[in-house]
Amino acid sequence: MKRREAFISSAAFIGLAAGITALDCSKENGGVAMAKFGDVLISPENEGREKHVPHIETASKVAAGESFEVKIIVGKEVPHPNTIEHHIKWIQLFAKEDGGRPAVHVATFDLGPSYVSPTITVPVKLNNTSTLFALEFCNMHGVWENSVKVEVE
Ligand SMILES: [Fe+2]
Repeated sequence: MKRREAFISSAAFIGLAAGITALDCSKENGGVAMAKFGDVLISPENEGREKHVPHIETASKVAAGESFEVKIIVGKEVPHPNTIEHHIKWIQLFAKEDGGRPAVHVATFDLGPSYVSPTITVPVKLNNTSTLFALEFCNMHGVWENSVKVEVE
């Protein structure tokens, strides 16, 4: 086995051991394993005390094309610190229709520490049953995610 092939093989093994499922070992990428951003997202099951998970409040069923409210709260049960040193910097909302279409960006809220509580409300219209994904970024603890399914009638 040539040295380069051994390197790629080792990189693939390390990636699989680290839970990285997609590797880009193409020549364009220099033969280096590529990590996925999804691997750094932190899910609700990893929260010990719920203060980072973006809690999503919305209707479970809505009418096609009619506006409804989506409220995202970070720190619903245990308030998250909101200081310059430790705060929620942004909250984003994405929607992904059932059926394999790509996720679309719905809204981004960039929050100023100490002045704004990490709670946002967005009017949303859906044409098809979708999953809503909320992301939030804590400047000390990373990017957290949550999702809910909304059925469109
Ligand atoms: Fe935090």
